[in-house]
Amino acid sequence: MSQVPQYVLSGLRPTGRVHLGNYFGAVRNWVRLQDLFDCYYFVADWHALTSDYADTSKITQSTFDAVADWLAAGLNPQKATIFIQSEVKEHAELHLLLSMITPLPWLERVPTFKDQQEQIENKDLNTYGFLGYPLLQTADIIIYRANFVPVGEDQASHLEFSREVVRRFNNFYGDVFPEPQPLFTETPKVPGLDARKMSKSYNNTIGLTASADEIRELVMTMFTDPNRIRKKDPGNPDICNLFQFHKLFSNGETIARVDRECRAAEIGCVDDKKLLAEIMIESLRPIRARREEIDRDPSIVWDALRDGNRKARERAQQTMQLVRDAVKINYHGL
Ligand code: TRP
Repeated sequence: MSQVPQYVLSGLRPTGRVHLGNYFGAVRNWVRLQDLFDCYYFVADWHALTSDYADTSKITQSTFDAVADWLAAGLNPQKATIFIQSEVKEHAELHLLLSMITPLPWLERVPTFKDQQEQIENKDLNTYGFLGYPLLQTADIIIYRANFVPVGEDQASHLEFSREVVRRFNNFYGDVFPEPQPLFTETPKVPGLDARKMSKSYNNTIGLTASADEIRELVMTMFTDPNRIRKKDPGNPDICNLFQFHKLFSNGETIARVDRECRAAEIGCVDDKKLLAEIMIESLRPIRARREEIDRDPSIVWDALRDGNRKARERAQQTMQLVRDAVKINYHGL
């Protein structure tokens, strides 16, 4: 690695407790990166308002739950800066300045804008804030002068937009920001209990810190090979949702055995569910134990955040001095 520190930034909207889809899709990767880069991870609570502005009652509790699970999953506040977006007001100042130079059509053509407006019918998303979602996200990233942004493929268009905004800013005012690169790491696809993508909105999730009994109960409801009706029917692991979870949690030997015994109808779906549930419980045990420790002492979360907010603010304030100088609107606090 080069001598110059490389900055990584990523965030998630506060959706409460982390589920296995969030974990394998993002959080596990964040944990790995904290040893390799100077990492900033945050709860995008303002972003939650872009669609859920009418009912804000759950945002702070969801923020706590998310961060508690991040810590349980192995994010270490000694290594990474973990913070809350709304606690670093500089994001808002930068967002405002960027809004002055951002052509409206750039925002209107971001694919997620139209897609979500069409898909989500029960909320009015014809708002200034919703249109500006990718621009606030841009401010989040570049205020830390981040080099890399670990995100899922679904965020690719947002990152491309951010890079365009950076080029425009640097063009007008001089080179302040590096162009942030997306860091697409290969992440396993995590299906939900019903074989659709795991997502809170489908109500098909398994919590990363679910109890042993919850895991047993949920695994029992999992879809399997839809063509296997009786136990004596041979199964097909290739199209079995349950088998996807073996690939995430079981060792090679178990995977091979289940594959063989399922095809030969030696093991039934119910047996297989019992086996999988115990393997999952065992593998998630350390994470669950850390979460219980945090629940006994929630100040672990607040302390980590207080410290993280302060560190994030420091870097954001340094960047804003550079920005205000570049834009030539800087009264240095008079
Ligand atoms: N859009 C991201 C999501 O919904 C959250 C987010 C906000 C983000 N700001 C960001 C992600 C900056 C990466 C970088 O998951």
